[in-house]
Amino acid sequence: MVKEIIVIGAGLAGLTCSVKSASKNIHVKLFSPVQSERSQSVMAMGGINAALNTKGEDDSVNEHYTDTINAGQHINNHNAVEKLTNDAPEIIDWLSRLGTSFTRDDNGNVDIRYFGGQKKMRTAYAGARTGKQILTAINTECRKWEYKDKIKRYVGWRFLSLILDDNKVCRGVVMINENTEEIRDFYADFVVIASGGMNKVFGKISGSLHNDGFVTGKLLRQGVELANMEMIQYHPTTIETPVKRMLITEAARGEGGRLYTLRNCEKWYFMEEWYPEQGALMPRDVVSRSIYRVCHEYGLGIDGENKVYLDLTHLDEKTVKIKLDEVYDVCMNYLNLDPTCEPIPIYPGVHYFMGGIRTDDAHKTNIENLFAIGECSSQYHGANRLGGNSLLGAIHGGWVVAEQLEEIQCENDNSKEYGKILNCEYEAYENWKELQKENNNVSSYEIEKEIADIMNKTMGIYRTESELKDGLGRLDLLETIHVNSHGCYYDYILLKSLISIAKTMLSSALARKESRGAHQRLDYPETDDKYLKTTVTSFDNDKLKITFNDTEERMGW
Ligand code: FUM
Repeated sequence: MVKEIIVIGAGLAGLTCSVKSASKNIHVKLFSPVQSERSQSVMAMGGINAALNTKGEDDSVNEHYTDTINAGQHINNHNAVEKLTNDAPEIIDWLSRLGTSFTRDDNGNVDIRYFGGQKKMRTAYAGARTGKQILTAINTECRKWEYKDKIKRYVGWRFLSLILDDNKVCRGVVMINENTEEIRDFYADFVVIASGGMNKVFGKISGSLHNDGFVTGKLLRQGVELANMEMIQYHPTTIETPVKRMLITEAARGEGGRLYTLRNCEKWYFMEEWYPEQGALMPRDVVSRSIYRVCHEYGLGIDGENKVYLDLTHLDEKTVKIKLDEVYDVCMNYLNLDPTCEPIPIYPGVHYFMGGIRTDDAHKTNIENLFAIGECSSQYHGANRLGGNSLLGAIHGGWVVAEQLEEIQCENDNSKEYGKILNCEYEAYENWKELQKENNNVSSYEIEKEIADIMNKTMGIYRTESELKDGLGRLDLLETIHVNSHGCYYDYILLKSLISIAKTMLSSALARKESRGAHQRLDYPETDDKYLKTTVTSFDNDKLKITFNDTEERMGW
């Protein structure tokens, strides 16, 4: 029997899983709200890590492994990181063969550059548009399999819920068509979630708001465990624009960019003074905290504001315009600033969620036949991700899942009826229509703004018990409000997920009474090895339950 999978999300992780599965004669239904070309993956700039060792620096897979674990402060899944770093050179080779137009060195090798938290040149890149170039190559490959009827795309469909057998085994999904509002069930042997980060809880962040977190929140309420939800990465160098924060890639520092502020009217290169060995290329959590210190403890933000300078003016013009092309464009278009002549004002902004759906080294979740890959999964990055490991992790997840599907025995009981969950979704839709007739409801936009405000106030670079508790109280209140979602059903159901996710993040942060990586508690400033564990959140009788589990734990199916 030909096996079938459903993949939710058509960014790099979902696409990779689809093409790799199709190449093993597994039939794929690939769902996404928008075309792959509009997925967040295309926003990834700086590069993808692999110990290619082409610069005579004696780099190795082992060092890539060690840097990843050290940056993650030892709560990564070590087995998963071992596979990730081991497969990385082969992944670059595969991407090259698919036609990714990596920047090349003078010998014709894929070029590599420095990135944060790594002492060796290890980050392969395509100018500062690496995500776009990789996605273009894999998407082209995907079209070939679509043509052969191995992959069927469903664009404009959003996830509503999992179809579960006895709350233990995943049989399929219920989806809604955004254009027609048709609600339908789909079945397969396996479901793979590749729905990205949970960006909308914070509002303005460096990522795409298409990756809103709905799926993760809904899965939690259906019994799927989440992990390390307190681990939220602040990228040190982002800029404020009216609609979102925009990334200035770490590659800018990798190519020699320097961070400074003014002290007594002189340039103070604080990273170089505090961390002479790696300077501005320390891991992201360290750089973000340092910028925070400069602005808040020392009161030395530029013009008294929350910003310091990223300086590229000493680099040669070709480096900025070619190797950092997207940085040049972003500065010119959004700041009206030429980075070859003027320093760029930057400040840390939310960039990545190390936590998400709890997965083991095989990307299995606690629900049988359900996998999660890409940013929505949680196994690789621990308390802080290395730049360049996210593209790698997204692609690797797709590989790892596709490789094991043939081996897993599926016992599909075709006599069983799974219509109940579909009916629940119809009913919820009808209830919403009724609710929208009331005219004293609060706008969903107001609630989204309130959630983002709570998150930005409580889940910043530093956290405290009193702020976290205050935030949880405010979230409880939001659950009691009747919402007007302006005729859009999805906006309405999204809020429930955002609140669930927000609560999970705050509760996890409250439970982890220590400081580690991206999670810094002012009231518990020390790292405590009692917490050398994964924070696991589950939904138990409508209540959040938090436990600390072994980082290497395997799912039992
Ligand atoms: O700074 C960057 O280019 C981001 C890369 C990443 O998050 O991996």
